[in-house]
Amino acid sequence: MFESKSGILWVGGLGFFAFAFLSNGLLPMLMVTEPEKTAEQMVNSNVMYQFEELSRRYPESFAEHVGEPTEQRCADMLRLGRQIYIGEGCWHCHSQFVRPVSNESQRWGKVAFPEEFHNELQRPVMFGTRRVGPDLSREGGRRGNDWQAVHLFKPKMVSSDSVMPEYPWFFDGSPDKPNLRGFAVITYIQWLGSWLESYPYYEELDELQQAEDY
Ligand code: HEC
Repeated sequence: MFESKSGILWVGGLGFFAFAFLSNGLLPMLMVTEPEKTAEQMVNSNVMYQFEELSRRYPESFAEHVGEPTEQRCADMLRLGRQIYIGEGCWHCHSQFVRPVSNESQRWGKVAFPEEFHNELQRPVMFGTRRVGPDLSREGGRRGNDWQAVHLFKPKMVSSDSVMPEYPWFFDGSPDKPNLRGFAVITYIQWLGSWLESYPYYEELDELQQAEDY
């Protein structure tokens, strides 16, 4: 077998295939020992803060479309919000992956790490394909719920040169009346990055608090 060139190539090819299977398939599988987290387990105090804020800001619409701002409802909204994010093709223009190159962390915060993708709401992952708009994996808490609502209704109202499409079907007529879709997408956006220790909104809030203390 080793007398001919093709024999060596054949054994080599098979060997590399086996090695790739081990290093890229089997080994990563063995390294993941924790079970995948559910949407319920991914609900945390940061996203609950935003979810409750939505219920106070739009009390009537929220009661009509979502009900009570419980943790279970929040998990439901995250699942639905993600489905809408996929269905509306948000991922065509937005990535959800901060790369360890080009100082991306200075613009969007912590570089992506494996654990944050190990849950139901990342299956499949929304890495995206290109960036027409900014990366959204750290978007939660960066803007208020009202900003997100107006922006989804008509991006140009808050970002004058925006090429992002308008999503009026997330609302019952005006940006102060989100419907089920609107609430779900906003909750999903506010969830992105809420699992990190530093959720931007709270850093700003701390700074404001400190300024007031003086
Ligand atoms: C055609 C490309 C495109 C699509 C599709 C798109 N966006 Fe955008 N998005 C942009 C661009 C460009 C910006 C930056 C300008 C702006 O703020 O509107 C942006 C900005 C944003 C921001 C604000 C980020 C920040 O803090 O500055 C959010 C949040 C967002 N998009 C969410 C969504 C969601 C949710 C969807 C789907 C329902 C979506 N986008 C669909 C292009 C797109």
